Amino acid sequence: MSRHGSSESTGASVQWELGTAHSYGEYLQLDRLLNAQQPRSRQPDELMFIVVHQVAELWMRLLLEELAGVLECVRRDDLGPSFKRFARICGVQSQLLSGWEVLASLTPADYAAFRNALGRASGFQSHQYRLLEFQLGNKNAQMLAVHRGDRAVSARLERALRAPSLYDEALRLLSRRGYGIPDSILSREFSEPYVPSKPVAAAWLAVYHNAHKDWDLYQLAEHLIDLDYRFQLWRCHHLKTVERIIGHKPGTGGTGGVSYLAEALRLQLFPELWQIRNAM
Ligand code: HEM
Repeated sequence: MSRHGSSESTGASVQWELGTAHSYGEYLQLDRLLNAQQPRSRQPDELMFIVVHQVAELWMRLLLEELAGVLECVRRDDLGPSFKRFARICGVQSQLLSGWEVLASLTPADYAAFRNALGRASGFQSHQYRLLEFQLGNKNAQMLAVHRGDRAVSARLERALRAPSLYDEALRLLSRRGYGIPDSILSREFSEPYVPSKPVAAAWLAVYHNAHKDWDLYQLAEHLIDLDYRFQLWRCHHLKTVERIIGHKPGTGGTGGVSYLAEALRLQLFPELWQIRNAM
């Protein structure tokens, strides 16, 4: 029987297919996980720095799974199960936010003591972060350049760049439910950045006014705002943490540092959902 066979939904079949773990450590592959922290300096703070980044990457891995699930639900107009996933996404985003509390214990001198060990390594090169941004609708083809050296990652990023984002799928759903979304938006070039428009704002406003009729769309809108809100908080905490640790010095990834991060602060993933707050 294949791993993806028809009876996979039963726990028993999954155990049969993958084999039962003999211990906690084996099940979680702790040997690999706990040997993946390899500081390159003798500075004790570097371990914390590595752990915080690795934990963030693990949370992003889960976010990508959950987002793929949400996208699937929106595509087939079955929002109920997506709300459970949105709730989990919200919990993961809170965990990502709490990571900054740990990093805030790093002083400029602590960081300077191992900064050279990083070389040119930077979160800027996180392909999972870029995938998340593409799936959420922040499309920027220039960001592919960083990953040219890795064919598998490049291919995954290119697919995400060209595919409709969560917001594109949400707008398609609004259209299927009778809300007026122009064809030019429904069949736009998905690899291009999204451009906000008045008809989309009007459609979302109508959803809020029709909440009693289309409660699930109203709930979807609020989940999207929640996700965007927490994403913005993450960016904001990142910027302030970076500022308190390296000031306005350039980053290891080669950007201006805080000035680069500040640009992203203005970014809204679902812009019309913010705009219509002015009209309520
Ligand atoms: C001492 C802690 C940190 C410092 C000083 C720092 C610094 C920076 C700087 C200066 C940039 C701009 C790109 C560059 O020139 O390098 C950046 C980007 C980035 N960092 Fe951090 N960072 C820190 C912690 C983290 C953590 C814990 C994460 C979690 C994964 C992270 C993820 C990212 C991501 C995803 C970007 C790209 C953002 C974008 O392109 O919009 N950073 N970081």
